[in-house]
Amino acid sequence: MAESASVSLDDKDYQLPVITGSEGEKAIDTRKLRKDSGYICYDQGYGNTGSCMSEITYLDGDKGILRHRGYPIEQLTQNSGYIETAYLVIYGELPTAEQAKAFNDLLAEHADVDPRMHPILEGFPKDAPPMAMLSALMAALPAYYPDLATNNFEKDLQTFDQTAALAISKIRTFVAMIYRYQCGLPTVPSKDIPYCENLLQMMFSEEGTEYATDSEVVKALDLLLLLHVDHEQNCSTATVRMVGSSAANMLASISAGIAALSGPLHGGANAAVMKMLQAIHDEGDDGSHFIEAAKSGDKSKRLMGFGHAVYRNFDPRAKIIGVSCEKVLATLGIDDPLLSIAQHLEQAALKDDYFVSRKLYPNVDFYSGIIMRALGIPVEMFTAAFAMGRVPGWIANWREVASQPKGRIYRPRQIYTGATQRDYPVSS
Ligand code: ACO
Repeated sequence: MAESASVSLDDKDYQLPVITGSEGEKAIDTRKLRKDSGYICYDQGYGNTGSCMSEITYLDGDKGILRHRGYPIEQLTQNSGYIETAYLVIYGELPTAEQAKAFNDLLAEHADVDPRMHPILEGFPKDAPPMAMLSALMAALPAYYPDLATNNFEKDLQTFDQTAALAISKIRTFVAMIYRYQCGLPTVPSKDIPYCENLLQMMFSEEGTEYATDSEVVKALDLLLLLHVDHEQNCSTATVRMVGSSAANMLASISAGIAALSGPLHGGANAAVMKMLQAIHDEGDDGSHFIEAAKSGDKSKRLMGFGHAVYRNFDPRAKIIGVSCEKVLATLGIDDPLLSIAQHLEQAALKDDYFVSRKLYPNVDFYSGIIMRALGIPVEMFTAAFAMGRVPGWIANWREVASQPKGRIYRPRQIYTGATQRDYPVSS
């Protein structure tokens, strides 16, 4: 394997070191190129730029591999749960029984929201986008916990365990509060029960009646959150690292991550899949007409939930979620016509040369919306549920940034294409 790369620029040769990751990933280290030659690397959208070294998640889009801290996602979904995987992603190892208990105790300790934050939520219009409310509530947290969010890496790392648990726990309560606020229902206080059960209680309990939790519903929610726990350097995670690199505290960085996720190209695809399936259903189509239209090359007619920026193979999460979706709906006795349409679309696309030749396979969003709908989560809250699942990944990435002794602020460069110097018009 090459140890360096040579670049010839203006009749001069430059040797650039090659970096190899633990899975054999290769990169050319261009950090000194500008200083030595005056050239920078242009890579709009960072599609071929390694912005960091990370020990958290390994993803091979060509082979359809996703591993957290070395453990394949398939094994984690089979043997672990959301909270244990969150711990693994954040701390690097599976917790011992003692560590798991301490982590769960911290989550329980931080579940309730300071009553002074309620007026913030109540100040929003009832039909405000949930992600706007979620990001704002997260951004406000440092005001209530100044000792955990000092904007000083050394101090913030000393209280890391508390802040991490606070973020994971509070976002769940925020999601439930936002949902109930939009429904015009009063907030339900948290209980000392497992994470997912607690969320369902806080969302769906009726006045005077405790929500009867179904173990299948809890399992399905847990799986959904686990599948979203981390996904390498995507838009929101890169945002968290970018914001964190300025020494901004973890909670502020997560709030920025939520804002990045709110964009339809990132976190909104699961809702777009549901809208597409519903439209197909309303038109009385089984998906056949839609598939034909999706092949036209018109972006607005794309088969939502198909294709992925990095996977050129099955998104491994989609395989897991597709199987689970069928099981969950059968167990809950739900006959959702949208599931049949989705399955028909998938089968048809996997046999169609247009999709096969372009390596377009279902992604995680293709079935996740159907499960969320079966759990009673409305479409408007889908992206907020996604954000809740992703918090551990954001925390782990923030921690890597905060822990790097020689880390520098993220500061990309640009190629300026605007007007060259000109004189301000002065009237004589
Ligand atoms: N339906 C129909 N055709 C598609 C689709 C699709 N879903 N996705 C890509 N194509 C076609 C493109 O038209 C293009 O065809 P061409 O070569 O004839 O021009 C080819 O496949 C390659 O498309 P690109 O846009 O270059 O693929 P890219 O990797 O940039 O895009 C993306 C990935 C944005 C995810 C795209 O596949 C898409 O829009 N999918 C639908 C939306 C979606 O499901 N997004 C969720 C992603 S997962 C997540 O963010 C959690």
